[in-house]
Amino acid sequence: MPRDRAVEAEGLERVFKGGIRAVDGVDLAVDAGEVFGFLGPNGAGKSTTVRMLATLLRPTGGRARVAGHDLVGDPSAVRRSIGVALQDAAIDPYMTGRELLHLQAVLHGFDRAHGRARAVELLERVDLVAAADRRVGTYSGGMRRRLDLALALVHEPEVLFLDEPTTGLDPISRLTLWDEVRRLNTELGTTVFLTTQYLEEADQLAGRVAIIDGGRIVAEGTPAALKAEVGDPTLRITLADPAAHEAGARALAAFGEALPPERSGALAVRLPGGAQSLPGVVRALDEAGVVAAELDLAMPSLDDVFVARTGRRLEAADGAGEPAAAPAPA
Ligand SMILES: Nc1ncnc2c1ncn2[C@@H]1O[C@H](COP(=O)(O)OP(=O)(O)OP(=O)(O)O)[C@@H](O)[C@H]1O
Ligand SMILES: [Mg+2]
Repeated sequence: MPRDRAVEAEGLERVFKGGIRAVDGVDLAVDAGEVFGFLGPNGAGKSTTVRMLATLLRPTGGRARVAGHDLVGDPSAVRRSIGVALQDAAIDPYMTGRELLHLQAVLHGFDRAHGRARAVELLERVDLVAAADRRVGTYSGGMRRRLDLALALVHEPEVLFLDEPTTGLDPISRLTLWDEVRRLNTELGTTVFLTTQYLEEADQLAGRVAIIDGGRIVAEGTPAALKAEVGDPTLRITLADPAAHEAGARALAAFGEALPPERSGALAVRLPGGAQSLPGVVRALDEAGVVAAELDLAMPSLDDVFVARTGRRLEAADGAGEPAAAPAPA
């Protein structure tokens, strides 16, 4: 059986009661050994996809193979090959990290002594040795996520699913987790399928990404190729006076396509002329009596890729570019 594909999905679909098409015909091909980023806003269908690929939720359509095994035909073989850290995993807060890892090892068929040794190995790997005998209820968010990661690794899975492993973490804890994921991938060759709402996370960690929105894949490729497709840089302007928004937009219209701004009181435009257009932009704003507090010309980001495909921003500082998005439930 060819094992070069870690995940292969065709037309994967999940319709919930009431006709909600959470995942609406998703095709995926993840090679063994890669870190694959699955990027999308709240409610895009990321967790639903992961739960189906991890055999926790039955697809209502399509087919998929994980680690070479058919999802529906041989779910137990899929389960043996994968590790999963769910977005909302509930673990007993009164148990210690060491106890939970030991229990997980025994559940995976380790005898008690090997289970204990495996727990120690994993505590070292995710840097939780000092906190090993504390109740998990006292762990910080970052420590919890690292423990979730260790729990998913007990049986040395070929393919690891991480559902938003860094959401809600502070920047330092996020970087620590990124390092763990990179090490797993390079040292053990583990394939990592990682969902995220963070562009930078996908950009930094993933060799390839798929962007999902409304249950459908809207873009797929290496971050570099996706950004190159967008091509032209984006000029972002912060207005000294937010009320000058319309006058500013009119002045900019001649220079390139208007883009949804990241904040109210800001403007964004695709600038095919790049830096050479800047003097003209400044003159046009000046003639229109619009004062710019800040000008920022940047090469395309994955956010610009998302805008190009959906007309919305994935990361909006105050939701200005993304009227439909509701805040994530706590
Ligand atoms: N059990 C369910 N019953 C009905 N609808 C559901 C169920 N689970 C998810 N949904 C809906 O399916 C859609 C996709 O949800 P999903 O949890 O997969 O999104 P997500 O991309 O993981 O979002 P987030 O970033 O907020 O975690 C949403 O509209 C959600 O409300
Ligand atoms: Mg989710």
